[in-house]
Amino acid sequence: MILVTGATGAIGSLLVQQLIQAGMPVRVFTRNPEKAAKFGSAVEVFVGNLDDENSLVHAMQGVERFFLITSSTQQDKNALEAAKQTGASHVVKISTQEAGWTPVEGHGHWHKEREDLIRASGIASTILRPTMYMNFALSWISSIRAENTIYVAGGNGKLAPIDPWDVASVAKAALTEDGYKNLAYELTGPELLTFGDMAEVISKTTGQTVRRVEISESKQGEIFAKMGLPKHTVDGLVETFRLIQRGRFSYTTKDVEISTGSKPHTFKMWMQEHLKAFQ
Ligand SMILES: NC(=O)c1ccc[n+]([C@@H]2O[C@H](COP(=O)([O-])OP(=O)(O)OC[C@H]3O[C@@H](n4cnc5c(N)ncnc54)[C@H](OP(=O)(O)O)[C@@H]3O)[C@@H](O)[C@H]2O)c1
Repeated sequence: MILVTGATGAIGSLLVQQLIQAGMPVRVFTRNPEKAAKFGSAVEVFVGNLDDENSLVHAMQGVERFFLITSSTQQDKNALEAAKQTGASHVVKISTQEAGWTPVEGHGHWHKEREDLIRASGIASTILRPTMYMNFALSWISSIRAENTIYVAGGNGKLAPIDPWDVASVAKAALTEDGYKNLAYELTGPELLTFGDMAEVISKTTGQTVRRVEISESKQGEIFAKMGLPKHTVDGLVETFRLIQRGRFSYTTKDVEISTGSKPHTFKMWMQEHLKAFQ
């Protein structure tokens, strides 16, 4: 049995879909069973909370491997303690690209702390360190609809955004195949793009000219705050955009292809798949 936390989120939903397709036994862990209804009877649904170690102990009964997405270090501690109590022996953990850098930067600090705990736990682990997900572009939909414009900081810095589907594919491989234990994978998309390049891809796919307007860091922070994100997350994301502007994310890796045997999706492919959301 494979336990998937974060199963109703961007990566987890696609991972569950891929595990079902592969015929694997899956238990999804959620606070909101209504959100897991989309998986139908193909999965077991466990209602629990990562803040509650006891619910994790119950959810991990009979589980060998589990997929972990957390938003606090305490949640990782709870999951590791539950795994020790129940004998779950392999965790596949979503971290972030910056956690693997020397020095660690921005958001990477929290994830690095959690990675260190996992490595010290004695439970076998696969750490996935993705770069920015392509679905960040979904946050531009309202300004595209209203004024054919995306407002974003980051200057002309390049990055290699990744399709969440590719992150899920590597997670699926790590959870179902041998050879992934105690390794870390740095996951990027296949091509380097500025946010201006992304606006061009959106223009070509939607057939309407979408312009990119550069905004200040503080304005970018206000946009994240309006999304309801807590202050420490907003500050971390603003730092990410500063690093993008400085060109720190301007490289690609081969880790998706090495793991799955397929090249990661381009932003054009992601846009074609999500075109309806932009219309
Ligand atoms: N976005 C990016 O560009 C990016 C890049 C690199 C790394 N990351 C990392 O990716 C992770 C986010 O992944 P995602 O975008 O797939 O997540 P997401 O779409 O934001 O979904 C979050 C998931 O976590 C679950 N959850 C939240 N609090 C919970 C709790 N207390 N107990 C149980 N479940 C809880 C939610 O489930 P329910 O609501 O169903 O309970 C939901 O399924 C973060 O660790 C982030 O740092 C993101």
